[in-house]
Amino acid sequence: MSRSAHPAGPRHADVYTEGHYSAPADDLNSLDEKVWSRTVDRNADGVVTVGGIEVTQLAEEFGTPAYFLDEADFRARCRAWADAFGPDADVFYAGKAFLSRAVVKWLQEEGLNLDVCSGGELATALAAGMPAERIAFHGNNKSADEIERAVEAGVGRIVLDSFQEIVRVAHIAQSRGVRQRVQIRVTVGVEAHTHEFIATAHEDQKFGIALAEGQAAEAVRRALKLDGLELIGIHSHIGSQIFDMAGFEVSARRVVQLLAEVRDEHGVELPEIDLGGGLGIAYTSEDDPREPQEIAKALGEIVTRECEAAGLATPRISVEPGRAIVGPTAFTLYQVGTVKPLEGLRTYVSVDGGMSDNIRTALYDAEYSVALVSRTSTAEPMLSRVVGKHCESGDIVVKDAFLPADLAPGDLLAVPATGAYCRAMASNYNHALRPPVVAVRDGEARVIVRRETEEDLLRLDVG
Ligand code: LLP
Repeated sequence: MSRSAHPAGPRHADVYTEGHYSAPADDLNSLDEKVWSRTVDRNADGVVTVGGIEVTQLAEEFGTPAYFLDEADFRARCRAWADAFGPDADVFYAGKAFLSRAVVKWLQEEGLNLDVCSGGELATALAAGMPAERIAFHGNNKSADEIERAVEAGVGRIVLDSFQEIVRVAHIAQSRGVRQRVQIRVTVGVEAHTHEFIATAHEDQKFGIALAEGQAAEAVRRALKLDGLELIGIHSHIGSQIFDMAGFEVSARRVVQLLAEVRDEHGVELPEIDLGGGLGIAYTSEDDPREPQEIAKALGEIVTRECEAAGLATPRISVEPGRAIVGPTAFTLYQVGTVKPLEGLRTYVSVDGGMSDNIRTALYDAEYSVALVSRTSTAEPMLSRVVGKHCESGDIVVKDAFLPADLAPGDLLAVPATGAYCRAMASNYNHALRPPVVAVRDGEARVIVRRETEEDLLRLDVG
């Protein structure tokens, strides 16, 4: 059916023609491979499958809401990043996007390193057997206890985020007779084109030490003097869900300039730079993410060019993608509970999860796609808002979506690209039970993070 054959339906024509919404897909049953993980398909019966298993079967076995993670896709993305950057660079998966013991094992098997940013993430990484030297430890306010644990475990690097932390880490390392490998995180003054809450390289925010006014140069000066520290490089992370490579280029250029200044002042060439994570993924068909090959090439070229110009040997580059690896590999499966048409506005479709399993829509105005996955439909598209079951009207999962007008309670909906920062930021709001994460691969599904139970909630309640 062509786009013009079905404007949004009479009920929604006014909103649709105002142009706030994308037109409905020509076929609401089609699955745009941009936003769905690689093994997702729709079978001859019209049921969506992942790793060869029907979502109806998954819902029966594991319940809803639940996150289904396409393990083959996750592993393929790890390999794509590792291959793109090659043996002279390091890829650190950013565990904050989603971390579990199973994921840590996959990372090890696929040759990736791991960035952790809390004692909890460090504990998970170590419990799953990640060699400490392959772990980078981040955070703008690491506690003394966290630093001690990281140093004692022998993490490969600690990324220093403040002047106080330079001294703290040096002191803890020295007291244990260790020279801790460290990088200094700098803020390069780039305005990344992303949501304000996830931009991190402009000056007016809490992370890192500014290049401006010689602050970062002063941090290097202090770190080089301390016996407990081995300063191996400079780190910059400019933000998250970024599509435009320009910000990374400016960041790389400014970091290399600092390396040149350090060489001029101290006669030391720092051997590593880390350009952070932040590469965007497709949440809707409108998003056009970069491939790891393209990113690796662009970053490699700019660093090499700037280093040549400054007469520096090219440092070893590392990157820290989180979302770009795990984000596209999972979808959240929900069951429809109620369908409420609001005349002249839109239809509210309530599902059995909500802002407790995906806070990103409420927090960042994030856009998601959604599809009816338990069957196909030839009904007209209906302008819908997919909402959760929490006690607030901001509890929106997908703000604007076209779903078939015959949608009914009991239907299964799936929201793709929920692998990153959804389970990781899930909450127990309204005493919701956080959903399980189920890994699916080659016709087999297994729980890697189990669903919370009411006993789990009560276990913490000691009153
Ligand atoms: N490295 C550092 C130092 C970071 O702070 C982050 C993300 C990453 C790497 C990974 O960024 P990624 O490749 O995943 O974009 N909760 C937000 C995202 C916060 C990102 C925080 N830091 C969201 O849901 O969009």
